[in-house]
Amino acid sequence: MSELHQALGAPVTGRHARQLAYYYGYGQEYPQGIEALMGDIPACANVIDVGSGISNLGITVARNRPDITWVNYDFGYHLPENIQRLGAVPPNVYIEPGDITQPLKQELLMSFDNVFSYYLLPHLSLEENKTPAAAAAVNMLQLLKMDGLLQVGPTEFDFDKLEGAVVKMRKPENAQKTAAAIDTLVASTMMPPRVVNTHLNSNRRGLERYRGIAALQG
Ligand SMILES: C[S@@+](CC[C@H](N)C(=O)[O-])C[C@H]1O[C@@H](n2cnc3c(N)ncnc32)[C@H](O)[C@@H]1O
Repeated sequence: MSELHQALGAPVTGRHARQLAYYYGYGQEYPQGIEALMGDIPACANVIDVGSGISNLGITVARNRPDITWVNYDFGYHLPENIQRLGAVPPNVYIEPGDITQPLKQELLMSFDNVFSYYLLPHLSLEENKTPAAAAAVNMLQLLKMDGLLQVGPTEFDFDKLEGAVVKMRKPENAQKTAAAIDTLVASTMMPPRVVNTHLNSNRRGLERYRGIAALQG
């Protein structure tokens, strides 16, 4: 386990931008996928990556798309040294520490054209009940502008079929569709018990630490 993984206290992976683009279902090959993902983002869009960890997706996309604003959102960023470890960040990338299971800051609500989230919901689905995962799903939908697009994965825990297994949905139009969308997000990203292992506990420890620091600061 790397120093950063330990400091974040969470199972942070640093998936490469090209790898994530492929997992999000763009392209048959890694190099083409990232181009397609970037091409799918509207001009001057606001984009957020929930549970961005140390992935360089935002940095890669934002560097190639100076017209967009990209927010990297992760509870791990409560430690300044973790932000530094992301390396050089283009001026259109913003780092936002936060717990997606908790109420969002007002300024984030209905602000994003694209919401990406990879490998965050599965961890929350491993809690004793589905409340944290459902709360995160509600918040992800609340981040979206009226015509915003949410892309969340992975949705299957057959690791051989991980690529391209994501839920893509537009912001639901009414309460009934929102409830159905939350159910879909939680149910489809749930890890089966056979995959449960120690990284669940490290995720929990990381969150507890974040909440402790946030409470002291608040
Ligand atoms: C497995 S990593 C995935 C990182 C990146 N999306 C990728 O696919 O390479 C999960 C990330 O979600 C973050 N995370 C877990 N629970 C969270 C929560 N409740 N709020 C915000 N971030 C959370 C962790 O800190 C970690 O960086």
